[in-house]
Amino acid sequence: MTSELVLAIESSCDDTAAAVVAGGRRVLSSVVASQDDVHSLFGGVVPEVASRKHVEVITAVVQRALDEARVTWGDLGGLAVTNGPGLIGSLLVGVSAAKAYHLATGLPLVGVNHIDGHLNSNFCDLPDHQGAPEDFPAVCLVASGGHSDLSLMLSRSEYRVLGCTHDDAAGEALDKAARLLKLGYPGGPAIQKAAEAGEPRFDLPRPLIEGTFDFSFSGLKTALMRLLQQLNKGRSADDPANLPIADLAASFQQAVVDTLVRDVREAAVQEGARQILLAGGVAANRLLRAELARVGEELDIPVRYPPFKLCTDNAAMVGAAAWAPLQAGKRDNLALDVFSAMEAC
Ligand code: KG4
Ligand code: ZN
Repeated sequence: MTSELVLAIESSCDDTAAAVVAGGRRVLSSVVASQDDVHSLFGGVVPEVASRKHVEVITAVVQRALDEARVTWGDLGGLAVTNGPGLIGSLLVGVSAAKAYHLATGLPLVGVNHIDGHLNSNFCDLPDHQGAPEDFPAVCLVASGGHSDLSLMLSRSEYRVLGCTHDDAAGEALDKAARLLKLGYPGGPAIQKAAEAGEPRFDLPRPLIEGTFDFSFSGLKTALMRLLQQLNKGRSADDPANLPIADLAASFQQAVVDTLVRDVREAAVQEGARQILLAGGVAANRLLRAELARVGEELDIPVRYPPFKLCTDNAAMVGAAAWAPLQAGKRDNLALDVFSAMEAC
């Protein structure tokens, strides 16, 4: 590669993002066009709407990423794009754009796994934030709307998935619970805010899949639904007015966090982790951070997470993940395909 600057594109779900990253670490720009406004009207991401919105803004987002980094196409050394897992229609927009830029510029192109991206968000340097040191093995929890993956990182580019979700992801469970509690979308921040005024006094399960680090959150959502039915007995099911919403939100959040923290702790002990890393939108959760900080103190290892804008979907993490494969000579071409699910799970 003639330059260490990589232009990265991410469009796997409902955020259109582009970034310029130097040497897999230094983020020169990271632009994210959120579609939250549109999808919040429906209480969740509508795939067809998401892909159409990506088409509308992708070229402007890429141009802004170049402008904010103060670089032009001729300064770049490579192109990276998320090609899965994610929504097929959304992924196709980013991948088609990346192929067009590859064809027009001749820059080397690599497809990046979205989870690889989230794992690598931890190693990004921003002007006001230094990324994690390359201290391995590291146990990394990626918890977002689409994923709950516990991975063992052996290097920036080698990792083993220790566990994943059998059904709903952690963020998805929070989003669904928020809908049941009529707290709005996205549900994670709404539940966190409501929970601040409440106590986790309701008994909800901590789902366990014996002998694995896998997660299952759909039963927890069902338990909340049953609890709401009980509390609603004798009055209109649709009237949340007199329900203890703050306590219900606090109880649900506590159950999700306890479940995640239990597995992260056990995995860190089992694998002799030298650090615990967090990524994905749910990594923004204050209770999760506080409880993991306690685990870090107990095990005497650091717990690290990226700043919020790198926790949620972004392209800087994709540029960071692309560096090792680009350096190793990996090259994709116009045949690069998209995929919807992780093979490991
Ligand atoms: O990583 P992300 O932006 O997109 C996906 O790849 O899914 O994560 C979005 C998820 C949503 O489910 C949202 O409710 C959750 O992250 N989230 C949070 C918080 N902020 C965002 N969950 C808990 N607490 C938060 N503060
Ligand atoms: Zn994500």
